[in-house]
Amino acid sequence: MTQTLLVNRSDFADVALVNAELQELAEGFIRLSIGPWALTANNITYMAVGDMIGYWKFFEPMDYGIEMDRSEKQQWGRMPVWGYAEVTESKCTDVPEGTLIYGFFPIAQSFDMKPVKLTPIGFQDGNDHRTELHPVYNGYTFVDKDPSFAAHRKLQPVLRPLFTTSFLIDDFLADENFFGAEQVLLLSASSKTAMGTAYCLKQRGNTKVIGLTSEGNKSFTESTGFYDEVYTYDTITDMNPDIKTSVVDMAGNGKVIGDVYDHFEENIVYNCMVGKSHWDGAPPKTPTLGAPAVMFFAPDRIKQRLKDWGGEIFAKNLAARWLPFCDSARDWLTLEESHDVTDVLKTYKDFLNGDVGPSKGYLFKI
Ligand SMILES: NC(=O)c1ccc[n+]([C@@H]2O[C@H](COP(=O)([O-])OP(=O)(O)OC[C@H]3O[C@@H](n4cnc5c(N)ncnc54)[C@H](OP(=O)(O)O)[C@@H]3O)[C@@H](O)[C@H]2O)c1
Repeated sequence: MTQTLLVNRSDFADVALVNAELQELAEGFIRLSIGPWALTANNITYMAVGDMIGYWKFFEPMDYGIEMDRSEKQQWGRMPVWGYAEVTESKCTDVPEGTLIYGFFPIAQSFDMKPVKLTPIGFQDGNDHRTELHPVYNGYTFVDKDPSFAAHRKLQPVLRPLFTTSFLIDDFLADENFFGAEQVLLLSASSKTAMGTAYCLKQRGNTKVIGLTSEGNKSFTESTGFYDEVYTYDTITDMNPDIKTSVVDMAGNGKVIGDVYDHFEENIVYNCMVGKSHWDGAPPKTPTLGAPAVMFFAPDRIKQRLKDWGGEIFAKNLAARWLPFCDSARDWLTLEESHDVTDVLKTYKDFLNGDVGPSKGYLFKI
């Protein structure tokens, strides 16, 4: 038997741990033991935008051999996570038993994949239903063949998918000359994606970096040193409204972004809509003054930069920021690791309720 976590797609607090019978591994497939994988607010957002962007389609319960009728199939989904997995059985000669891979997985004990488009450092999952989905999420890396995994092995599942986005946002804004802004304002400034972005902007050094966070996370956010100034959602009006500002919105909270527009009005020259860490906040409204929000989808920017730079330069540019950012995490991030499913469920509920401190990183295996 093997276990997986299902989430009610219309009520994320309603979860079920279910067992399924392991079937005989099909020809050309590999069987994986999943973990450790990371949990951050980003995973909750995958569900919050699951219907709009298609995240529910990667790991449908039916693919796991769980018998369900049509309405149950529409009701239950599996939340994707980033992490490691080890090949425990192989009917694919190119990916032998014992291989360690990194990529996008469901929360489950095991998973079967069909490696296709093999390269020296990885492959794509060729499971039929995934071929239509974004290739960035279908790509898996052989951990021992990719030098970027040599250091900070445990930090990678927690920070890597988020920091890649941070790096791309900084690159995008700089490429656009910050849309004429004198400062960049980051919402949900204590989130790891925001901190990575602030770190890259600060390293670049040619714009002011302002953080906006909740009262409880203000002193932590200040202590990182990544921001020039930090304000709270209740003190938006303390900021100087006359400064041309580009916004990077990780919170997706209609009330907060509405207050920001009301304060800066036409001085909002760009609004890069990245996330919805405040997943149950009201949806943002279209502003009457200031530039409207434009969605930022990291996989599309990766595609663009791979085309512009090629894979080697992309990896070199990313590594130049990634490695020192990981080094900095020693000062602001504590990793907690558990193989106990009770801890998974507790931390998952804490994330839903916004009860997780920003200084923690969580790694799990069930
Ligand atoms: N578009 C893309 O391609 C892309 C890629 C990566 C990440 N993202 C998005 O960036 C956002 C941040 O993700 P992350 O993984 O970096 O987050 P994280 O580090 O886990 O963020 C934790 C922070 O988010 C806020 N938060 C979390 N849960 C909350 C809740 N239930 N209610 C209210 N606030 C809550 C709090 O920040 P504050 O107190 O500072 O608000 C908290 O300190 C997510 O929405 C994620 O999807 C988007």
